[in-house]
Amino acid sequence: EEVTFANGEIKSVINDSVRGKDVYVVQLIDDPHSNKSVNDNIMSLLTAINAAYNSDAARITAVIPQFPYSRQERKKGREAISAKIVCNAIEGAGANRVITLDIHSEAIEGFFNKAKLENLHAGRAVISYVMDNIQIKDLMVVAPDVGSAGRGKYFAHRMGVDLAIIDKTRDYVQSSEISGMRLVGSVKDKDVFIPDDMIATGGTLLSALKLIKENGARDIHIAVSLPFFNGDAVDKFDKAYKEGLFKCVFGTDAVFWGDKFQKEHPWYKEITIAELFGNVIYSLNQRRSVSSLML
Ligand code: R5P
Repeated sequence: EEVTFANGEIKSVINDSVRGKDVYVVQLIDDPHSNKSVNDNIMSLLTAINAAYNSDAARITAVIPQFPYSRQERKKGREAISAKIVCNAIEGAGANRVITLDIHSEAIEGFFNKAKLENLHAGRAVISYVMDNIQIKDLMVVAPDVGSAGRGKYFAHRMGVDLAIIDKTRDYVQSSEISGMRLVGSVKDKDVFIPDDMIATGGTLLSALKLIKENGARDIHIAVSLPFFNGDAVDKFDKAYKEGLFKCVFGTDAVFWGDKFQKEHPWYKEITIAELFGNVIYSLNQRRSVSSLML
């Protein structure tokens, strides 16, 4: 139970005994169906973990499919390394383990001192769904930036097709606007599949779509693990779809949009990764290996 004070502070209370139990605290951080901010949800997570810690749980696992501040794992100039602050806070609250999905930077695994990070991958569920739904003949995978080249390589290998890469430059000093994009590889007369970790504002993928189309590609499909669609991103994708820039965005239900959204936006298909999380939690609880679930 979460109690909110008049000044906005919250208090998390566990109404049953958890002494000696294996506790899993599940928290969505960026939830399109809630008015709560990312920062509010982080506080809910931390207070729930600490309530379990103070209640003498044997082991506490934070289940956060959307790892917050994961794009701030290093600094350029006078900036906070905010991902590190989040890791310290989760660990300090009392968590022994964190389960997340396709974390933006794997370097964050090293930000914990004692807690273990299980970084699950949506790739297997996404590939099996996508291969049933799109033509693989004459297909290329395109990684939308150098940071996602490793993911692109994995998808290209598993799908048995070639890989091209976009060299993206962001103007990090003044804003985070994209200031340049260059395609390395040829997509002429090819269908294209773009895998990425997330859609936030959509800036990366919408710019990539234009560039790939200008280079003579045919149909373009996109898949992301974390389809946040922040700000007016949904409107931008509606517009790009009407302009014929892409065929479909596949997104996992780690950011749950549901049936109504899919009916209103025929370009969006939701893929569930609930079974993956369920199997991993079961394996951890039973002290079984989880690596075979993540290949
Ligand atoms: C970039 O490094 C990430 O992999 C994503 O492509 C990016 O963070 C998505 O953000 P946006 O949708 O705002 O371009």
